Amino acid sequence: MKIAVIGTGYVGLVAGTCFADNGNDVICVDQDPTKVERLKKGIIPIYEPGLEKLVLRNVESGRISFTTETAEAVKKSDIVFLAVGTPPLPSGDPDLSYLESAARSVGRAINGFKVIVNKSTVPIGTHQTVAQWLSEETDELFEVVSNPEFLKEGTAVDDFLKPDRVVIGTRSDRAFEMMEELYGPFCRQGNPIIRMDPVSSEMTKYACNAFLATRISFMNEIAQLCDLLGGDVEHIRKGMGSDVRIGKHFLYAGAGYGGSCFPKDVQALMAKGREVENPLKIVTATEEVNHAQKTYLFKKIKNHYKGEISGKKFAIWGAAFKPNTDDMREAPAIEMIRSLLKDGASVSVYDPVALDNTRQIFEDAVTYGKNASDTLRDADALVLMTEWNEFRHVDFNEMKLNDQVIFDGRNIYSPEKVKKSGMTYYGIGRS
Ligand SMILES: NC(=O)c1ccc[n+]([C@@H]2O[C@H](COP(=O)([O-])OP(=O)(O)OC[C@H]3O[C@@H](n4cnc5c(N)ncnc54)[C@H](O)[C@@H]3O)[C@@H](O)[C@H]2O)c1
Repeated sequence: MKIAVIGTGYVGLVAGTCFADNGNDVICVDQDPTKVERLKKGIIPIYEPGLEKLVLRNVESGRISFTTETAEAVKKSDIVFLAVGTPPLPSGDPDLSYLESAARSVGRAINGFKVIVNKSTVPIGTHQTVAQWLSEETDELFEVVSNPEFLKEGTAVDDFLKPDRVVIGTRSDRAFEMMEELYGPFCRQGNPIIRMDPVSSEMTKYACNAFLATRISFMNEIAQLCDLLGGDVEHIRKGMGSDVRIGKHFLYAGAGYGGSCFPKDVQALMAKGREVENPLKIVTATEEVNHAQKTYLFKKIKNHYKGEISGKKFAIWGAAFKPNTDDMREAPAIEMIRSLLKDGASVSVYDPVALDNTRQIFEDAVTYGKNASDTLRDADALVLMTEWNEFRHVDFNEMKLNDQVIFDGRNIYSPEKVKKSGMTYYGIGRS
């Protein structure tokens, strides 16, 4: 099939590449000429395991190409995916200006029936707005389909190639059949293609992310109770997760959730609830707990130092919002570093792949380690913010921290082992 993908970020690049790998002709469009030039040279702008190899393979076979020209891509395609960013506005509503601009450019270029697919995460009802923008630009026939994306950064390629399910929101049989043909090869193992109306499809995406975020905030509250009453939230997580009704995913207490999706989508769902005068109490609490959780570990640091951290040097391991990505959007490490600096401490950071993005935020305000152990040089304490595998196996006896203390924001270390090495351990909910 002939596919155009408008917006070549984490979602658009992965989706476009995976469609191409399944034998489709894909044109990826981005408004950022530097990104497009780099992609044409085979330089991948993001870190995503397995992506580079797949992009290069499909560039070589001529199945995927990159351009800044939306019109050219749309004219050559039957299905056009909108995968531009929808970042949050201060009100919590997503900023739809990128989507509008992309949709209108698509509308101006339509030259015959097209299926226009909304892959960006958009407020419930946006399929109608997109149809309106398009019809203001063209008299040609089109169908707008909602097809939310559920991939996870860090495992995006695998998630896209083997999705748990594909959700397609459309009332049009013609559009559904085209989408079914496109996604058929990804669903050969019996993973379902679920057809529904567009409102349900748009809401499914928000409901999933809000629900997963709620699980995390719930565990963070349980962790706070553990800190007050005794108990270890890691034991509780295992005890809960073995119950098949609960399942083991997204039960990890820690320094709060971040990333480009959970915080934004939770806020967007809250905004929608307020708009229809039905505020969402559970989701609102999820957001509040997470907001507080982002400073919870910092408070432990302050308590340990009896309120005085000025002049102390902290080594930060991990900056990305989670392992296996370079994405720093809403990463809890940002807030931690800002708080430490504000109180007069100095900071040295190491992350296996997110250091360039960290530099863009903090520039010369912090120093950057060449590797994990280099970051510890002259440090008073270690603060772990992202659970990269390379941080898991360390010899605590070899660590030379001046104040002999570890603050583990992801509960990856055994408190007993740390203590055995003579150091003090703080986790989240592991009193
Ligand atoms: N990142 C994720 O893990 C993830 C997962 C599921 C859904 N989503 C949703 O998918 C959407 C895209 O997210 P992302 O993380 O890929 O964003 P991103 O910021 O990584 O990429 C968006 C890209 O769109 C480009 N763009 C913006 N306006 C454009 C226009 N008019 N024409 C052409 N290109 C344009 C930008 O230059 C950028 O490269 C968002 O709505 C997001 O909520 C993201």
